[in-house]
Amino acid sequence: MKSFYRRIYWKLFLAFLASILLTASVMVLTYFIFAPEIEVHPHIKKSLIDETRSVAERITASLAASPSSLADVTRKIHVDENANIRVFDLSGRELVAWMDERLKGTRRISMTVIEETLRTGEHLSLIFPRWIQVVSMPLKRGREPVAILQIYYPLIEKSIFPQGVPTLILLFLLGGMTAFFSRWLTRPVQELTRGARRMSAGNFGAAVTIRSRDEIGELGKAFNEMSRRLAEFHKSLTELLADISHEIRSPLARIQTDAEILIDREMGKEEQAQHLQAICEEVRHIDHLIDDLLMLSRLENNQLTIERSRVAIGEVLSREVSRFLLQAEEKAITLKQVIAPGLPVVSIDEKRIGQVISNLLTNAIRYTPPNGTIEVGTKSSASEIQLWVSDTGAGITPEDLPYIFDRLYRVDKSRSRSTGGTGLGLAIARRFVEAHGGHIRAESEAGKGTVIIVTLPLS
Ligand SMILES: Nc1ncnc2c1ncn2[C@@H]1O[C@H](COP(=O)(O)OP(=O)(O)OP(=O)(O)O)[C@@H](O)[C@H]1O
Ligand SMILES: [Mg+2]
Repeated sequence: MKSFYRRIYWKLFLAFLASILLTASVMVLTYFIFAPEIEVHPHIKKSLIDETRSVAERITASLAASPSSLADVTRKIHVDENANIRVFDLSGRELVAWMDERLKGTRRISMTVIEETLRTGEHLSLIFPRWIQVVSMPLKRGREPVAILQIYYPLIEKSIFPQGVPTLILLFLLGGMTAFFSRWLTRPVQELTRGARRMSAGNFGAAVTIRSRDEIGELGKAFNEMSRRLAEFHKSLTELLADISHEIRSPLARIQTDAEILIDREMGKEEQAQHLQAICEEVRHIDHLIDDLLMLSRLENNQLTIERSRVAIGEVLSREVSRFLLQAEEKAITLKQVIAPGLPVVSIDEKRIGQVISNLLTNAIRYTPPNGTIEVGTKSSASEIQLWVSDTGAGITPEDLPYIFDRLYRVDKSRSRSTGGTGLGLAIARRFVEAHGGHIRAESEAGKGTVIIVTLPLS
């Protein structure tokens, strides 16, 4: 269990709550700063003064006319007229107080108020924030003031501050809403965490469902994309390992057979040499395979840098063609160059493009039966240059055509010594071409022949 303050949920919750409380405090503070400035309308003030004066006169009159005490007189007015009355002597001592329950606990009179009342004949003050207008007036015997009468006039019926149950409900609602929003914001994050956990447990391709379209939604999309890529990568890695083991196992098996024959059988020097020759060929094959695999792995990890230099493309082609003339002749295949004049000088990695042509020519010779024809050509336009190798060989069926540039893909699934290849030549060629910003494609008709076209941008 994570400590609670480390959870983003609680952080959000507290942040929300803090900002709500802060806003509320600022509002209350503003109220307390500005509200006391409010003045009761002079009209109301006047009628309250008149009202108080009439009460004062009635009290004086009653006391003069009858032997009843101050307490009785004031209590009668309090009961009959609902008035909230207090009387103090001139030193501020409370003589009587007849107040409603909710007005009890209001402050005592101050000497300043007494002096002010005696001097001017009346005094008004506002009790804030309960909004009570207090009118003070002297009570006189004859012309002499003997006491101070205060009447409390509540200006509003109820406090504007929420109290009791409503306050609780409000706080509860606020808390609930805050909790809801925090949960709502953190749920996608938790979903992402669960997704990441599933992934680290080996479940590549695990997707998360995040419906929001905000930044977290974006993150969710990126996460799913990453997960999908990882799954693909994982799958291809597994396949590659299986394929490699298979590829290496076949030549090893053949080496073992030859070696066993050499051990078991009595034979002449010539036959021995034949088996040793076969073993050497298989070893070379494995060596070649490992070279290609290493190259491909470097290409797939983007570790291969393209070293461009300005070269005449025609020369690169001619050089590659001349390297294959002998092989073609051995198979009675005609190898021709159809090179357009005025070829541009291009900025390419000469070695890599040479390798591409070499791979294409190896295929053409390997998959073309004797007496066939292979042509190598180029064509350039303002923005690109095309190199192509065509043959009159076995061709490739439409079902196989989309896959021939895939790693380790071979049309002839049997890995016999005669058909030789491992299915890496075109995969390597494609990556070299793509590293130059170009593309490679094949056109073929089964039984008629194949043409592979490489397009490279000039700039
Ligand atoms: N010119 C072609 N004619 C007919 N089939 C071809 C031709 N070029 C390629 N293919 C088919 O495409 C497959 C893939 O070619 P790729 O060059 O990648 O592998 P490979 O020649 O079998 O082996 P490697 O080039 O690694 O020695 C080949 O196995 C072959 O079936
Ligand atoms: Mg090949």
